[in-house]
Amino acid sequence: MTTIGILGTGGLAALMVRGVQGAGYRLVLSPRNAEVAARLAADHGCEVAASNQAVVDAADGVFVSLPAATGADELARLTFRPGQPVLSAMAGTGLAKLQSVIGPARPAVSMMPGYANALGVGPSILHPDDAFWRPFLAATGPVQAFADDASFTIAATFGAFSGASFAFMAQAIAWYEAQGLPPATARALVAATLRGNAEVLLSEDRTLPEIAREVITPGGISELLVATLTERGTLTAWDEALTRVLRRIGG
Ligand SMILES: NC(=O)c1ccc[n+]([C@@H]2O[C@H](COP(=O)([O-])OP(=O)(O)OC[C@H]3O[C@@H](n4cnc5c(N)ncnc54)[C@H](OP(=O)(O)O)[C@@H]3O)[C@@H](O)[C@H]2O)c1
Repeated sequence: MTTIGILGTGGLAALMVRGVQGAGYRLVLSPRNAEVAARLAADHGCEVAASNQAVVDAADGVFVSLPAATGADELARLTFRPGQPVLSAMAGTGLAKLQSVIGPARPAVSMMPGYANALGVGPSILHPDDAFWRPFLAATGPVQAFADDASFTIAATFGAFSGASFAFMAQAIAWYEAQGLPPATARALVAATLRGNAEVLLSEDRTLPEIAREVITPGGISELLVATLTERGTLTAWDEALTRVLRRIGG
């Protein structure tokens, strides 16, 4: 059985452990944050190592979900085996930086929404493609691999896009509730609408303009909504927001 060591037993680690449950991995966790580690051991059969170095030593491959600000420094204190696969999910730590702190090990970087990965439907991006990590990530949802740094960094902004989509959904849900719909109805309506439309994009072999022509009819209520959002700059504000995120993560 392949052993995955996880450094940084926090929120993302807990979600990924849930996501890969049943995929046949033995999971060994770093001991700091004993409460989460104990819960993951009890609920998902993870083992808890005595130290971060013990995680690395026990692991065929190491998944890194340490804090973005301090994780690289911690990795630099550890000793990895030559060619050992190390996958970082830390925002803003690129491939070159990761390589510089793991010595002879084999680096790869990733990004994922997190929560959806726990349910097996969260997309992940991976750079570079890696036969060790692809099936691990695929257990938590669809994987897209990127060969070059620049494309990966652009794509990695989707971590923020994903988080912001919850704010967008919350805004719409709150409006329906304010008009008097029961909270559960508002939530189900908004979530199912987005899930359905996402399915259209994923499975229909038509261009976006073709789909838009069909769903946004001239003079219709969708056009009214889009026109209002456009007038207020709400749609183009996404460009500025995503560009800010891209700058923050090094693009
Ligand atoms: N949450 C997500 O959905 C998500 C998605 C994609 C990527 N990420 C990335 O994943 C990383 C972790 O995010 P998170 O939300 O899981 O953060 P988190 O909940 O704070 O988890 C990080 C964990 O690492 C522990 N830690 C800190 N220093 C350590 C050290 N030297 N050795 C071992 N463990 C140490 C922390 O313990 P203490 O609490 O005791 O400091 C905490 O338990 C970040 O770099 C983030 O950019 C997160």
